[in-house]
Order: sequence, then C-alpha cells, then structure tokens
Amino acid sequence: MLKDYYDVVIIGSGAAGLYTSLNIINNKKVLLISKDKIIVSNSSLAQGGIAGELHANDEAYQKHIDDSLLAGSYLNNIPALRTLVYESSHNLNKLINFGVKFDKDEEGNILLTREGGHSERRILHAGGDATGKEIIKSLAVQVINKENIDILEDAMVVDLIVENNKCLGAGVLTQDQYREIYSTVTVLCTGGIGEIYKNSTNPTVATGDGIAMAYRAGAEIANMEFVQFHPTAFFRHENGPRFLISEAVRGEGGYLLNVEGNRFMHKYHHLCELAPRDKVSQSIYREMYDTWSDHVYLDVRHLDSDFIKKRFPTIYNRCLEYGVDMTEELVPVAPVEHFSVGGISVDLNGHSSIENLYANGECCDSGVHGANRLASNSLLECIVFGGRIAKNINDYQVEVYDKLPLVQNLKLSNYNYRNIKNQIKDIMERNVGIVRTEKNLILAEDTIKGILNGLENDKRTCKAYYEVYNMATVALLVIESALNRKESIGCHYRID
Ligand code: SIN
Repeated sequence: MLKDYYDVVIIGSGAAGLYTSLNIINNKKVLLISKDKIIVSNSSLAQGGIAGELHANDEAYQKHIDDSLLAGSYLNNIPALRTLVYESSHNLNKLINFGVKFDKDEEGNILLTREGGHSERRILHAGGDATGKEIIKSLAVQVINKENIDILEDAMVVDLIVENNKCLGAGVLTQDQYREIYSTVTVLCTGGIGEIYKNSTNPTVATGDGIAMAYRAGAEIANMEFVQFHPTAFFRHENGPRFLISEAVRGEGGYLLNVEGNRFMHKYHHLCELAPRDKVSQSIYREMYDTWSDHVYLDVRHLDSDFIKKRFPTIYNRCLEYGVDMTEELVPVAPVEHFSVGGISVDLNGHSSIENLYANGECCDSGVHGANRLASNSLLECIVFGGRIAKNINDYQVEVYDKLPLVQNLKLSNYNYRNIKNQIKDIMERNVGIVRTEKNLILAEDTIKGILNGLENDKRTCKAYYEVYNMATVALLVIESALNRKESIGCHYRID
C-alpha cells in the first residue's frame, strides 16, 4: 500500500537506484519507483564489467586516475575522480557482501580484464559477459527483502514537485492514476538518453526522464554535448536498440578490420584497438567513410574458440542468433549511442543545485568522466556516489509536510506519439552524431524546437506524452551544448 509521504523517494531501478536504496538506514522509509519492472534497466545490460581496485593501493589508484584523465581529455573534475577511485575498494567489497558473484579463477582469485583506455587489468566481471545482470539480480533480491523499502513498478514520475528551489517530492503516473508523493529527499537515478537516437545500446526506457524533469524544475544541467558512442554494437540494417559487443572482447585480443579485411586502428592511435572509446568510434567512422561502408568487423577468429565461448557466452550466443559464429566468422559492428556523459550537475555528495534533490548514475554529471568516460567507470560511479548520497541522506532530519497530496483517477489515452519519436531519432542520428557541424546542429535545433513547442501547446496526461516530451527536451539540451562548444574534444567532434 503506497504512502503519501516518504523519507526518501528514489526514481529509477538500475545499479544507481538499487545501491543507493540499500545504503539508506533502516529507520528511513524509502520508495523505489521503476518505470518498468525493477530488473529492466541499462545497468542490467552492462557486459564488460566494473572498474576499480578491490584492495587499497595508492599506485593502482593513481594509474586508474591517470587512465580516466587521459580518456576524459583532462576535463574531469579531479576531486570527484579521486573520490571515485579511492572509494572503489570499500564499495566493491560491499557489492560482494550484497551477494554479487564476480568471476574467479580456479584458486578463487577474482579475475580482472581490460577494456579501451585502461593501462592495467582492473575490471571485475561476472557470468563472463553478464556483469550488469548479476549486479542487478543480486541487489534487487536485497531490495525486495528490505522492510523499509517499498517498490512501485510500472510507474512513471512525470515531474518533480519543487517550491522555492526545494524539492518536495514527485508527481507519478501509474496505470490509472496521477498522484503526488511527498518526500524529505528525492534521488534521480533515471539513466540515459539512448532513445533520442535511432540506434543505441540502451533499452527503450532510456528517454532522459530525470534530466528533463530536473531541467524543467530549474536544476543546473551540464556537458550534454558529450554523448558517448560505443564503437562495437552488432550491425544490422534495421534501426532500434543494438546489441552491444563488449570492449572486453578487444581487451582479450580482438581486432578491428575494415570491409576490405585490413586492420586500421594503428593509423589513428598508438593503443590501436584499446584506445579510449571516443577515439575508436571516431576512427571507425572515418574508416567507414573511406571505404563507403556502414560497418566494420570485429575479428576474434585467432583466439581459442573454447575460451571465447566460456568468456563471452552472452555475446557468442546472441551473435549465433544473428547467424554469425564469432569463433569462425567476422562480426559486423558499427558505433551507436551508448552513454550520456553529461547530465544533472551534482557535488561530491550527489546533491544537485535544487535543495533536497540528488542525482546518481548516468543521469547525473558528477564530473568524473570529463569529456569521454573510461570504460567500466559507470557502474563504479553508481556505487561510489550511491554510497555517498545514502550517507548524506542518513543524517537528514525528516521534513513534515502539511500538504495533502493530489490523487486523480485517469482514463489514459491510447496515443503513442510514434511519429514524433521517430522524427526526433532521425534528426539526432543524422545531425548530432559522432561528427558534428554548426550547420547541421542549427538544422536540428530548429526542428526540435518546433516539436517541443507543439508538445507544450498540447499537453496530455499519459506516459507516451511525457516520454516524447522528455526526449525532445534532452535532445535540445544536447544540441545547444554542442553548439556552444566550438572545439573538438572527447566525444564531441566538430569538423567545422
Ligand atoms: C562494454 O562492455 O564495452 C561496455 C562497458 C561500459 O560501457 O563501460
């Protein structure tokens, strides 16, 4: 039974939302809201792993910081990055205590892998290539069993309740109701923005809801131009969510070939296939341009086939479903949208510019990633900052509100806004992709502004309306940030 008031409302059930909830003390009443089921999130699709140091080690910490800085083109916020790395050991061990089972060798030592931009093997993984799934499954079991946490699934938060720059809670759409829920603090953990592009590794729930809501409420949003494209998603002719082929495949020795069958990364970066992700995606883009092609290939035929099947069972089986046996055949791949580096600006405790409003995970901009995220630092960000947010909230005095929450029964419309969604995806894919020019950005800005205007003049109380409204809002934020940054840096590449 839902209450009208909670101490903490957490919006989103990926690694950020689950881990934050679990670290809130038992005497605080928490509501965890999920737009779908709690196991559906971008985090659950994470393959490669989670970067970090299991044991405190200053030299190892420094190398991790240096790699993150190099990948992020030195735009990283140094105190935030130091926090991320120095607090990795404590939080990774806590994750293990929550029941997460990382892959081990025969002697029981946790196995570590490498991905693009890492100078060392420091990435923990689970189920071979199903790290996110294992983390979400283990944390979800704990959350379900914790008495102070209520879970509300299939419910979309449509706006924050904010008065005088103070967040008082959220307005939620359930199957047949709109209702306000008041809370002392609210934490946005709503994930990414992949749906604004035609092709993305994100699930379709990633419509940028938290960023759009926070923006409407007046929160500071930053660095939205830094949209990271993952170099190797399985290439198909149909548009839509694309299956990720983890960077760990290159970390274990996979090569990239162009359609003429030649390796090419040595032409672009001394780290070749293990260059930071922005550089690999930009190099593939260039190679596809030069070879008049829409994909390149990932080649693991030289690696032991039993090793591939055991180390990457999810990827191996999914490629087989698409008709490719990766142990014998080349895997067609192309870069697609993967991660929003920017988002809601937060401080070292995950607090936004609105009082009592926090943000964690992909929807926030803690500054740790700079202009391009180092592979597998994102799950780490969710747990380190989730722990800090919870610690901060645990010290809060409970607010007592004298307001009566609004509850309205609704008859939901059947509108699906599919045409407008497709229009946004089309314009973003075409004009705000890996390579950008002012001319194309202005074209995209005009179209998205028109769409946003139309939506604002014809408001509807239904999930599809709010999703498309949020998509248009974040698309415009990306375009405007991209127009403001004239130079090429990290994953923002201007050819003019
Ligand atoms: C991957 O496994 O390549 C993705 C991991 C990440 O996004 O950091």
